[in-house]
Amino acid sequence: MSETIKNPVMDAILSRRSTRDFKRDVQLTETELNTILEAGIWAPTARNTQHIHFIVIQKPEVIAKIAEGFSKNDFNDGKIRDFVYGAPTFIMLTGKKDWKYTHIDAGIVVENMSLAAQSLGLGSLIIGCVKDYFNTEDGRKYAVELGMPEDHVFSIGIALGHIATPTPPKPRVGDRITYIR
Ligand SMILES: Cc1cc2nc3c(=O)[nH]c(=O)nc-3n(C[C@H](O)[C@H](O)[C@H](O)COP(=O)(O)O)c2cc1C
Repeated sequence: MSETIKNPVMDAILSRRSTRDFKRDVQLTETELNTILEAGIWAPTARNTQHIHFIVIQKPEVIAKIAEGFSKNDFNDGKIRDFVYGAPTFIMLTGKKDWKYTHIDAGIVVENMSLAAQSLGLGSLIIGCVKDYFNTEDGRKYAVELGMPEDHVFSIGIALGHIATPTPPKPRVGDRITYIR
């Protein structure tokens, strides 16, 4: 990209990275959490359905239980994987099961939240790997127990916290834009 404009929104977009090493013992303040949730709530949704539900998890034992269920259902070595990389907050986004834009809506919500976290100097990691677990019978039951409405499915999650080890940027693949003009 040759010439571009820099401003605070562009700064957040360009400096955000997927954090994979969080400070385990430093929780978000309530104001930080509320600000990130506000960014999610104000995301656009198709036909203004505003159906995305937010489940904020700050109990380590609940994150550990999801990790256990996910690792059991993951086709790897069966070891328990700390899928949030030590993050003290994990937010699950769920949406209407039969709505064609559910995952697009949730994707837009989660990116808003990720950029809000970046603007506050916090780390975030968008997490899709637990989706298969939440689609199993056990996982679905647990998601409902945690507060997922019955007519929803898990769409995407986001881990949030303070960055322990910064992530280096991953170069972007070029030559992906077609101009017709
Ligand atoms: C829909 C989606 C799902 C993702 N799921 C995971 C995940 O489960 N675990 C993980 O470590 N990273 C996950 N990521 C993060 C990507 O791996 C990451 O965005 C990508 O490698 C680019 O790195 P960057 O975010 O630092 O630019 C996910 C990202 C997206 C957009």
